[in-house]
Amino acid sequence: MRILVQPTPDVVASLAASLLVARVRHQPDLVLGLATGMTMVPVYRELVLQQQLAAVSFARVRLFALDEYRGALPADLGSCRGFLDRHVLRPLAVGPAHIQMLDGRASDPDAECARYEDAIRAAGGIDVQLLGIGGNGHIGFNEPGSPFDSRTRVARLSEQTRQANAAQWGGSPVAVPADALTLGIGTILEARTCLLLAFGFGKAAAVAAAVDGPRTAEVPASALQMHGDVVCLLDEAAASQLAR
Ligand code: GLP
Repeated sequence: MRILVQPTPDVVASLAASLLVARVRHQPDLVLGLATGMTMVPVYRELVLQQQLAAVSFARVRLFALDEYRGALPADLGSCRGFLDRHVLRPLAVGPAHIQMLDGRASDPDAECARYEDAIRAAGGIDVQLLGIGGNGHIGFNEPGSPFDSRTRVARLSEQTRQANAAQWGGSPVAVPADALTLGIGTILEARTCLLLAFGFGKAAAVAAAVDGPRTAEVPASALQMHGDVVCLLDEAAASQLAR
């Protein structure tokens, strides 16, 4: 794993955005996996800004959402679809043909997850996967205990995650759906490049466990140690418990 530490979240976000813009300039039909969560807000803000400044077209980029809450309506503020619409898809004017999302309302969620795996394969695989990290070390919605070879599937959210994400659902953890559809860890590991971002002291222990700790299903992000091309973009606070 390559670890890049910058003084503030804004500098990290700017660096992440310039990496992405450079990749799209090089490969205009890049397949990009999009994450949600507060960490991604400045990243997408910078991406929109830098894409305009650099005049790089994202018209041919193909986007895949990382996860979605089960039962979430697109209009729900907390839904991943709503988040991505607001922060990246509308600002970048991405057409519907270029974005794939998991349907949290699918009547057969297992079939929906299988469809998604097929869609990723048909696109030639994910070139760059953006990832945040949960305070408990989750990636996507792969909670502790998720097998490293797991595929896109329905996963049960931990109470810690529902608590952490409650603000996006009106403040109460019980309002947060109990399950989600998520790319599996095995699916994430097939992305050619993973960019893991984390900000703040609240993420420092999870980052240290993922980077320096043993590879264990109890820390889903530690699976990234097995990947040949992972860049961890951290602010000083999130890097504060690293061994180096
Ligand atoms: C959610 C998402 C994850 C994300 C995590 C961290 O649970 N499913 O993909 O990494 O939140 O979120 P935040 O960036 O808000 O701390």
